[in-house]
Amino acid sequence: MSASIYVLNGPNLNRLGTREPSTYGTATLGDIESLCRDVGEDLDLEIEFRQSNHEGMLVDWIQEAGDLAQGLVINPAAFTHTSVALHDAIRAAEIPTVEVHLSNVFAREAFRHHSYVSPVALGVICGFGPTGYRLALEALSTVIRP
Ligand code: DQA
Repeated sequence: MSASIYVLNGPNLNRLGTREPSTYGTATLGDIESLCRDVGEDLDLEIEFRQSNHEGMLVDWIQEAGDLAQGLVINPAAFTHTSVALHDAIRAAEIPTVEVHLSNVFAREAFRHHSYVSPVALGVICGFGPTGYRLALEALSTVIRP
């Protein structure tokens, strides 16, 4: 049976493609979803791909992932740097979680250097653009099926 992986995306990521392309590239969120679905097929992972601009919605989906999925990939976007609620939800979900950022947040403004999500993530991937999602799914699949 396929393992289920939730891939959640936070605020403003629905604007990828036109949003600050010099920082985030030109791939749209739809392109990233297709990439995740292709990787999911290769690795026999069932991908649930979602985006929200609302913190509470992301909390609801993390809770749902904790009930239904074997792993979580999350790009929490700006909530990375602000959200104790996402930290608590991921901690409580108790499923392996990979934090992904398209950009290298450590090469950017100081306020992006702190993450509330990293302490409750299994690992963090940043700076590789959409490829980070592929790497996250590959990493999760080795953890779920050692
Ligand atoms: C981001 C980095 C965050 O600092 C920023 O707020 C985003 C996108 C990234 O993917 O590089 O919205 O998570």
